[in-house]
Amino acid sequence: NSGSFNVTAFTEEQEALVVKSWNAMKKNSGELALKFFLRIFEIAPSAKKLFTFLKDSDIPVEQNPKLKPHATTVFVMTCESAVQLRKAGKVTVRESNLKDLGATHFKYGVLDEHFEVTKYALLETIKEAVPEMWSPEMKNSWAEAYDQLAAAIKTEMKPPS
Ligand code: HEM
Repeated sequence: NSGSFNVTAFTEEQEALVVKSWNAMKKNSGELALKFFLRIFEIAPSAKKLFTFLKDSDIPVEQNPKLKPHATTVFVMTCESAVQLRKAGKVTVRESNLKDLGATHFKYGVLDEHFEVTKYALLETIKEAVPEMWSPEMKNSWAEAYDQLAAAIKTEMKPPS
């Protein structure tokens, strides 16, 4: 039931699939991250308006010099959080914390449907990055890890106190 709070354990098998695919993608993080974000904007063009560095820019999105660094941060953070999930026993984010991430996403007006589109774009990006290892189990593992990360951010989406 998608509405209930998620306490599902992330299994060793799921962890292994996430680790294996992340190890194969790591060296191409920048390119994959850019693809990931362009996919988000292809599905939801209006999401561009949320980003300060895209909103008032005349440069086409794919040429915006700020997009790739930002996309890479988000992509690497998402993947590393998935890799850590079982060992940490909870969602962790490097070089930030969930409270700040929640406050930022609240401030910029990120909605549930943006998280959904982003999930779809993430899964498509990984599928295309590692077609030879892609499987329903691998898709599930990434989906589960992403859902837990998104839920953790959403829980903190409120004005900073
Ligand atoms: C900013 C991560 C989902 C939109 C950020 C930042 C990080 C981040 C690290 C920079 C924080 C800062 O500058 O303080 C993530 C992660 C996500 C996620 C790990 C995974 C669930 C989303 C989604 C959207 C979104 C679904 C909407 C499509 C934004 C916006 C900003 C931002 C608009 C501010 C960008 C700006 O400076 O203009 N995110 N994010 N994020 N994120 Fe996310």
